[in-house]
Amino acid sequence: MSSSTAKTTTAANELPDTIRALVWRDDALHLLDQRQLPQSCDWLKLDDAPAVARAIHDMVVRGAPAIGIAAAYGVVLAARAAWLTANKDWREAIEPDLQILAGARPTAVNLHWALARMQALFTELDDDPEPALLAEANRIHAEDVAANRRMGELGADLIGSVPAVLTHCNTGSLATGGFGTALGVIRTLYGRGAVKQVYATETRPWLQGARLTAWELQQDAIPGQLIADSAAAALISHGDVKWVIVGADRVAANGDVANKIGTYQLAIAARYHGARFMVVAPTSSVDMACASGADIPIEDRNPEELLKVAGQAVAAGGFAAWNPVFDVTPASLIDALVTEAGVVEQPDQARLARLLQA
Ligand code: MRU
Repeated sequence: MSSSTAKTTTAANELPDTIRALVWRDDALHLLDQRQLPQSCDWLKLDDAPAVARAIHDMVVRGAPAIGIAAAYGVVLAARAAWLTANKDWREAIEPDLQILAGARPTAVNLHWALARMQALFTELDDDPEPALLAEANRIHAEDVAANRRMGELGADLIGSVPAVLTHCNTGSLATGGFGTALGVIRTLYGRGAVKQVYATETRPWLQGARLTAWELQQDAIPGQLIADSAAAALISHGDVKWVIVGADRVAANGDVANKIGTYQLAIAARYHGARFMVVAPTSSVDMACASGADIPIEDRNPEELLKVAGQAVAAGGFAAWNPVFDVTPASLIDALVTEAGVVEQPDQARLARLLQA
């Protein structure tokens, strides 16, 4: 694929949503290399599962739903290789690749959800498994975009019309199959003329806000303003930000939410200053097997990510760093959890269980 962005066509009366981070084409998975944005739009072509796992680990593709979709396509590639080498014994031969995919990143449960959904098909397949698995991966991808559109409507309905919102990390088309979770709600608000100002945190250390959200909003001509992470409490205290809107990597059974590091302090600042706090996440991010946030594995990444910016050292040489890339926001600080299945206000175990049963 050329080094341009994969853009979907947007009709004049539709909400702006032109970016795609993953495309299945010519029998391979193509990923927009998010490590290079916004300086360059480079596409990588992946045709085996270990390469997909590496791309997830190295953050070529990131964002919980996008990681799940990439893993689903990784299973298609793994099945192709297993069928070629082991034919009818492909189910045994595929195991090492499934393990590699499962271990690519620990926090986003969408990865495990997507692998489980793909594996659920295995017993039904007697012949070459690739066509049926590719159809399932495509369905996972399409359903994610539909879920995001639905969450956009539900979240925007709850918010109504506000002077300003604040978001964290990147939760848009780059982090999902398309449209986005928290950024999908913001897209919808913007499309309705229901928000005047969108603020995005820069999101140290990987700068998903500065590099990705700012770029994505710009591509879709949605005006916004970047703030330093350390400016968030001051901004919220000024009163225009009525809602802080974020995504999730995993929602525990009691409503606790793991999301990008810095989310928890935003929730505290919002509660302190009377702003409301919304988490937007598809049901594929809910993990009822995790009783609470304390059970969610939190990824620690290389301290170098914190000690350097764009490859340049910024900290005193030889200094140590702690680099957890997610934190847990307790359910008690969350005003609304928006999923495609509905909205749960003041989420707790009983309300979340009721939503999923319905
Ligand atoms: O480390 P990342 O960039 O994968 O982290 C992404 C986030 O924390 C997002 O907020 C989350 O995955 C929701 S994306 C729709």
